[in-house]
Amino acid sequence: MAETKILTARFDLPNSTSIDTYLKTGGYQALEKALKMTQEEIIEEVKKSALRGRGGAGFPTGLKWSFVPRSSPKPKYLVCNADESEPGTCKDRYLMEKDPHQLIEGMIISAYAIGANLSFIYIRGEYWYLIAVLEKAIEEARARGYLGKNILGSKFELDIIVHPGAGAYICGEETALLESLEGKRGHPRIKPPFPAVVGLYGCPTLVNNVETLSAVPHIILKGGDWYRQLGTEKSGGTKMFSLSGHVNRPGNYEVRMGYPLMQLINEEGGGIRDGKKLKAVIPGGSSVPIINAEEAARCNLDYESCQSVGTMLASGGVIVMDETTDIFETTFNLIKFYKHESCGWCTPCREGTDWLVKLFKKIKSGSGTQADLELIERLCVNIEGRSHCPLGEAAVLPITSAMKRFPEDFTKRVRKTLPVLQPA
Ligand SMILES: Cc1cc2nc3c(=O)[nH]c(=O)nc-3n(C[C@H](O)[C@H](O)[C@H](O)COP(=O)(O)O)c2cc1C
Ligand code: SF4
Repeated sequence: MAETKILTARFDLPNSTSIDTYLKTGGYQALEKALKMTQEEIIEEVKKSALRGRGGAGFPTGLKWSFVPRSSPKPKYLVCNADESEPGTCKDRYLMEKDPHQLIEGMIISAYAIGANLSFIYIRGEYWYLIAVLEKAIEEARARGYLGKNILGSKFELDIIVHPGAGAYICGEETALLESLEGKRGHPRIKPPFPAVVGLYGCPTLVNNVETLSAVPHIILKGGDWYRQLGTEKSGGTKMFSLSGHVNRPGNYEVRMGYPLMQLINEEGGGIRDGKKLKAVIPGGSSVPIINAEEAARCNLDYESCQSVGTMLASGGVIVMDETTDIFETTFNLIKFYKHESCGWCTPCREGTDWLVKLFKKIKSGSGTQADLELIERLCVNIEGRSHCPLGEAAVLPITSAMKRFPEDFTKRVRKTLPVLQPA
């Protein structure tokens, strides 16, 4: 087995971002087909494909689309989540950089399916150089009649606005993103109501990830059944994985859902660098539990298999660590990130992540004790499930899983008890 290039098929073509290249390689044929279908037929096809959201939560895409109340008199919006800030994940960036028309075609079909006439690409601020790529592609699509009024004579109209964020990780969370898009501070909203019903400006809004939307033209053109059989029964299609860390060939690879994790590391990634042994893997971006080498050997890259070894597929950022890695340092690095990115709205996450960083610093300095490790565990229990949004949980999952699977990397750092002070 090797890579299965569906979303990445055009990446190596010269001028892969131009509309001419896109049209020469089958581009916008799915849109022509979709505009002759009913909205229900499109949603049905996406349901059949078993496509699940590629932004992290893995929610079934067709089902999410069906939640948008199309008969509502309010305007409907489509928002493409291009905030991609999850440590270890850099796939959306390549999808926009190498094949922007694939995303635009996916957006037009998705907007048509839910009855939206205005859509947004909310793009991570650090991806400023991609804004020009996207805007050029949008302009090309408008000039050829794929955007604007009366698209291909169908009476359907749509425009796409590219809106940059300002570099806050929390603005990737869909409701914080909507707040930010409305010009407010990016605090997550209480759910329910979900954005599909009450989203941007209080109107029904579909929020989907770049990779999710990029898969849509393929599903419509070749059929939901075709897409589904590329992957597993419950996780259809292919997925891009950003492979990083101690491998010989880090990079983005597109493989079928259900592809063995070790095969990705050894074949696509060329194995562990310097002939070292594998110690640990974070398979889904920094917010998921870390697994050990034995678990990695049993793990396939689909939602169910990842769950069976106690982790998650999430956004597909596969971070590989060899036997020289100190997992205490890895987790310390991650908790510093989450403390920095906590939006500060709720106490368990705001105070808890700060306290965790202080404890890690104390342990690193050599003055930590066994009681500090126990305190870290208690803090994690009090953050997980008690925070307002999933960032709180994301902050502690790497720590709790690391302490469970690699206890020696933590215990070797601390003294068993406090030193007994001797009288002078
Ligand atoms: C803290 C946090 C950060 C997130 N960042 C992103 C992101 O950068 N990109 C993304 O697509 N989804 C991100 N998500 C998930 C979104 O909330 C949402 O589930 C997703 O955009 C839905 O699209 P999908 O169904 O196509 O995956 C994040 C979630 C959380 C809790
Ligand atoms: S969990 Fe963290 S990021 Fe989420 S609302 Fe609370 S403080 Fe903000």
